[in-house]
Amino acid sequence: MEQEAASAVAWALALERSAFAAAIRASIWIYPAANVLHVLGIALLFGSVAVFDLRLLGVNWAGRPAEAALLALPLARTGLAIALPTGFLLFSTEASAYVVNPIFQAKFAAIVIAFLNLALFHAGSYRRIAGWGGEVPASARLAAGISVLAWLAAVVCGRFAAYV
Ligand code: HEM
Repeated sequence: MEQEAASAVAWALALERSAFAAAIRASIWIYPAANVLHVLGIALLFGSVAVFDLRLLGVNWAGRPAEAALLALPLARTGLAIALPTGFLLFSTEASAYVVNPIFQAKFAAIVIAFLNLALFHAGSYRRIAGWGGEVPASARLAAGISVLAWLAAVVCGRFAAYV
């Protein structure tokens, strides 16, 4: 276990000492620009995930069938595509501190749970969405609940990680 932690820190130290991370630290605008993009990506991701998941959970302010909430998914993908690389960029500057930060570790666990849940949902009830016919199956509602909570946990831990 200790050996695993040491090799994680060694990997993180190598990243932090790389020319890539040094260039980010040397620039006055790359880090803040990446931070702004990270937050925008998260806003897009969480906003659209909330629209989709809450609709599956029965929240229907717009009075539309669940299939209409599919419109939110390309936005969620775009947000994710922005949040992942910008997060890596922020991470690289102080990687050795982040890998041992328990709140950052919890954020990662939440992201992994969100991805596993997404993969299961896509392999399961999502494939039959055209045949739901107004009744969202229990498995899809469970996936939506896990999804919205896991992404929320990632957002909360993402902000709190700075204070540990
Ligand atoms: C895709 C889901 C993600 C979510 C929902 C998320 C959420 C957040 C949030 C809310 C913040 C605080 C932003 C601020 O207030 O300025 C943040 C910062 C950060 N995120 Fe992410 N993030 C995600 C992915 C990632 C990934 C994949 C990485 C690393 C590979 C990462 C690394 C960071 C770092 C290093 C910070 C700065 C923390 C600090 O202020 O010290 N994030 N994230």
